[in-house]
Amino acid sequence: MCGIVAYVGPKEAYPILINGLKRLEYRGYDSAGIALLNSSLNVYKAKGKVSDLEDIIKDTDLHGTIGIAHTRWATHGEPNQVNAHPHYSQSKEIALIHNGIIENYASLRKELESRGYVFESSTDTEVLTNLIEDIKINENVDLFEAVRIALNQVIGAYAIVVISRNDPDTLIAARKGSPLVIGIGTDDYYVASDATPIVEYTKNVVYLDDEEVAQIRRNNTLKIKTIRNHEKTPYVQQLELNLSALEKGGFEHFMLKEIYEQPHSIRDSMRGRLHADLGTVSLGGIIDYEQKLITAQRILVVACGTSWHAGLVGEYLIEDLARIPVEVEYASEFRYRNPVIYEHDVVIAISQSGETADTLAAIELAKSKGATILGICNVVGSSIARATHAGSYTHAGPEIGVASTKAFTAQVTLLTLLALRLAQLKGTLSKSRFLQILNELDRIPEKVEETLKTSEVVTRIATQFKDVRNFLYLGRGYNFPVALEGALKLKEISYIHAEGYPAAEMKHGPIALIDEEMPVVFIATNKGTYDKVVSNIQEVKARKGKVIAIVTKGDTIVKGMADYVIEIPETEEMLVPLLATIPLQKLSYHIAVMRGCNVDQPRNLAKSVTVE
Ligand code: AGP
Ligand code: GLU
Repeated sequence: MCGIVAYVGPKEAYPILINGLKRLEYRGYDSAGIALLNSSLNVYKAKGKVSDLEDIIKDTDLHGTIGIAHTRWATHGEPNQVNAHPHYSQSKEIALIHNGIIENYASLRKELESRGYVFESSTDTEVLTNLIEDIKINENVDLFEAVRIALNQVIGAYAIVVISRNDPDTLIAARKGSPLVIGIGTDDYYVASDATPIVEYTKNVVYLDDEEVAQIRRNNTLKIKTIRNHEKTPYVQQLELNLSALEKGGFEHFMLKEIYEQPHSIRDSMRGRLHADLGTVSLGGIIDYEQKLITAQRILVVACGTSWHAGLVGEYLIEDLARIPVEVEYASEFRYRNPVIYEHDVVIAISQSGETADTLAAIELAKSKGATILGICNVVGSSIARATHAGSYTHAGPEIGVASTKAFTAQVTLLTLLALRLAQLKGTLSKSRFLQILNELDRIPEKVEETLKTSEVVTRIATQFKDVRNFLYLGRGYNFPVALEGALKLKEISYIHAEGYPAAEMKHGPIALIDEEMPVVFIATNKGTYDKVVSNIQEVKARKGKVIAIVTKGDTIVKGMADYVIEIPETEEMLVPLLATIPLQKLSYHIAVMRGCNVDQPRNLAKSVTVE
């Protein structure tokens, strides 16, 4: 789950590496380190942020035209300076950075210890570094070959980059289960966990595949082999990423920028897919699988976190509009609970990053049972996008804030398009109803724009409740996943305990929590079950809870009962999640800022969870 960046070429490596780490810091930020190779191989590490590393080494000679750098999210060993990467091998000839987990590190470590190796850190990574050194010495092979042989002994997931003091012109990179991309400049090479540190230097990239090892040499040679020693021809692709998408553009935090990008990102998700003029919907990426989808006995959705919440909205949409049964599964549960998977099942994997380890494993499991796997991913070229049979990108643009915002609304947009397309193919909606929903979806970006303007009441609520210890979020139907997402957003970035529940479930337990201290957020826009939600609000009021309600503009009944009201524009019930989520994102943002929390990089979290 960490960030990796490396460089070899004629330029000074340090500025490239340190800027690259800053771009990748969203992936992990408990410690950082850098190794530079000039006349010697020097490793510098610090606990904390990349800026802490910069502080520590600012008076050091940082010259060198080859180097590797890492920002860590600890899995083995606490986040401290010793466990930070890069790790030296015992003789200090080799330095290595690693993203992932070496599962058999304990037995490898024991074996190496019996041969005299002494370990400084508690990491699995240092074991791999010494394993490579051991093989290099005992089998008398070069670094490329030593890495390849070592990886045959490794169980687990890795993206690694290795350098050796004895070969100042070469980087060795390899991956399995964790992403790695090589940027090809005119006379230099870049390696990184994703393309963000590379895009300002070159648009030509090669994505390494699982179990591939690359030898990257200063004299413009890039050689790729599988760990089983088969040569591969590098496949060079063009990046479609703009630098401006990676910067804050005047906003104080990436999260706020991403919240405000939603009118555009939702529009981008619909571009070329929703044709309001023709009254049609098309999803080019899955066109070959449409028949499979409409004849499927059920659709399974696998995802984690916010993407799982989007999946839940998808379940309501697809069942409601296209009448196909949908089951939404936490990928982490699905992969280990021996699920029943039929060959004619269609599995939809949803992931912003496209790198989530549990989602990837769920895909592999379903694939091994012969199911068809479709992906809904944001990051182009990501592992999940490549592991699926087909799919559609959400096109929300890079999401840097660890708390997912625009990716969620883009996922929901895509699932709405999918539900509409399936309904059209199956004929489960009348033509006029289909067009009504389609035209309303087309208007959603403007309504999101309007919703974003509701700021004053949101900051007032944030000021009032920023110091509470608990929050409850309640919603029914399409608004239940919105409640879950609102609660997740708050707990992630403000560290206030928050729970989301179906409103009617409140009386089966959570109602015991309600007293005059307890803020309860109701998403009360429902048409069909409005009266029921009103009763639930009464139940909270009767126990002196504080009610914050999201209502449709013009509502009077809930307005008369709630302590605080946030109005959103009127829309179709199934499209409400696209609007109601926005003030909840803003509420958690403002509360987190007022509490002095690090909004973009909340404690203990990382943007992509590439470990189980
Ligand atoms: C969202 O705010 C969280 N950071 C987290 O729950 C996230 O949605 C989850 O880890 C799944 O990530 P993915 O979409 O990249 O697979
Ligand atoms: N397992 C390694 C460690 O704990 C790498 C973790 C990561 O991917 O950040 O150092």
